[in-house]
Amino acid sequence: MAIPVIIDTDPGIDDALAIFLACAAPELDIRAVTTVAGNVGINRTTRNAAHLLSLGGRSHVPVHRGADRPLRQELATIEDIHGQNGLGGVELPGTAPAPAEGSATEALIRHLAAAAPESLTIVLLGPQTNLALALQKQPGIARAVREFVVMGGSLDPEGGNSTRYAEFNIHTDPEAAAIVLAAGRPMTWIPLEVARQASVDRAWIEALRAGGGPCALAGAAMLDFYLRAFDRPQAALYDPLTVLWLIAPELFDLRPATLEIETLDAARAGQTRFDLATSTSQIRVATRCDDRAVRTRLLERLLRL
Ligand code: BDR
Ligand code: CA
Repeated sequence: MAIPVIIDTDPGIDDALAIFLACAAPELDIRAVTTVAGNVGINRTTRNAAHLLSLGGRSHVPVHRGADRPLRQELATIEDIHGQNGLGGVELPGTAPAPAEGSATEALIRHLAAAAPESLTIVLLGPQTNLALALQKQPGIARAVREFVVMGGSLDPEGGNSTRYAEFNIHTDPEAAAIVLAAGRPMTWIPLEVARQASVDRAWIEALRAGGGPCALAGAAMLDFYLRAFDRPQAALYDPLTVLWLIAPELFDLRPATLEIETLDAARAGQTRFDLATSTSQIRVATRCDDRAVRTRLLERLLRL
């Protein structure tokens, strides 16, 4: 049976590839996509999510517009990495369907309240504001969460990408991430280091482009921008790894861990402190992946669209 999932996302070039990958995964039953402000503002992330799903053949999946800013701090977007439109300036063919009725928070509450205990997987690809708002409003919905699958954080507490201490998604809304963590449900984290291990290069992008389909062409064009933005011969595809973990868990090594998220010290806000000296935690963090297989599997799937 397909795994029921809700994807919470801020597309974003790597979010776009994660959405395409989910569209190419019959193993997943995408119940809804909820959007959040992060890489770019909420109007763009919402329009992009709807457009990407429709290009991936899933226009029936409802897209719910979510939080336009973090719980406490101002939003700081990163158009330099993702382009003004969040997709590296790439104009997708066709038009973006309108978002569905109801906010992301309302949709999360509704889906979780209606789901059986421990049945719904939530994939978190951006700042975790929507989930935090839903949990604050109705804490009981946490029961329905089978697992949170998170792109975020770093194994090295001083290995951030937003600041020396913090990764972008957690740094953007540390309070939200702390609230989601405190819900006490199982979590799988894909941190920066593991995503970097499976970075892709120009040859990989050209192999994607050679697929020739609308998603492959759009994905390759977005990655052209992304590679230029980082100004490196390789770039980490962060968000798709969460989706890949759901469909090919054997490609990742996971360790149980305890986790603290810094919310008090402003200089370290969003720092993730994983402690692997435990064997019983419900939290698991990826410590490495089979990077060659990850790259191959990602490509193979994306070329199916
Ligand atoms: C994360 O930050 C965002 O820019 C990406 O979309 C990804 O979710 C990587 O740190
Ligand atoms: Ca993201």
